[in-house]
Amino acid sequence: MNFNNRVALITGAGSKRGIGRETAKQLASRGATVVVADIDLAGAQDTVSEIAALGKGAAHAIQLDVTNRDQVVSAVQEIVEKFGRLDILVNNAGITRPTRVMDIPEEEWDLIFKVNVKSIYYLTQEALKVMKKQGYGRIVNMGSVSGKRGGGVFGGSHYSASKAAVAGFSKAVAREMAPYGITCNVVAPGMIGTDITGGLLTEEAKAENIRAIPVGRLGTVQDIAFTIAFLASEEASYITGEEVDVNGGSHID
Ligand code: NAI
Repeated sequence: MNFNNRVALITGAGSKRGIGRETAKQLASRGATVVVADIDLAGAQDTVSEIAALGKGAAHAIQLDVTNRDQVVSAVQEIVEKFGRLDILVNNAGITRPTRVMDIPEEEWDLIFKVNVKSIYYLTQEALKVMKKQGYGRIVNMGSVSGKRGGGVFGGSHYSASKAAVAGFSKAVAREMAPYGITCNVVAPGMIGTDITGGLLTEEAKAENIRAIPVGRLGTVQDIAFTIAFLASEEASYITGEEVDVNGGSHID
């Protein structure tokens, strides 16, 4: 599996211990030119520095608010001008709120859907303009176990609904785009042991969560990034419209 001569755009890849940064490192270390996009430019630049330290692949940071259509259009144009193509789009940027259903204010509902769902429609449309011309593309969207089974420690019902929407959108795009050499898949992580999980869960709550995971541990960002990388590879050309669970068996369907 190598990404030589491939150009990838990964959104939300600035977070220090996040899935996006690890994915950017995985793709770059296998030869890709990675565009690290985040609303937090300093974070994106930090990811680029980590990639430079790997001494493989190449990376470029851009500030991008995925909820802003004009910024999305400009970002994709800039990528094509600079690198000549766009092969891989990883729609990773996402937010969550643990609000219970009766307490969700309308603005919070809209914000979750703007960041987690509408942004994917913007980015997918722009990327597809390039990918269709190339006759090649890989789109990987971030779902969640919460979108399949409902609930979760970190996300409310709006978060679950948004991730279920991502899955439905991705399956329809997969059908439409298969004739053009473009695949579209979803990765649905279970609970990943990041700073967030470490910070929000007591040791007791963490142990209780782990007891519900047959593999017996929380997931890692590497577990997710490897899966994204595989779906983003040439070798995964016969997989499309799939939602891949990476959850240690905590939800099996
Ligand atoms: P994270 O919070 O570490 O990273 C998310 C990144 O998105 C941050 O760098 C943030 O600056 C960026 N971002 C937020 N709003 C943005 C916007 N409007 N425009 C551009 N960038 C924006 O999150 P993490 O944990 O790495 O999650 C990544 C994806 O995986 C998300 O879609 C999340 O819903 C999903 N996921 C994460 C799980 C976990 O346990 N960490 C479990 C299931 C799904």
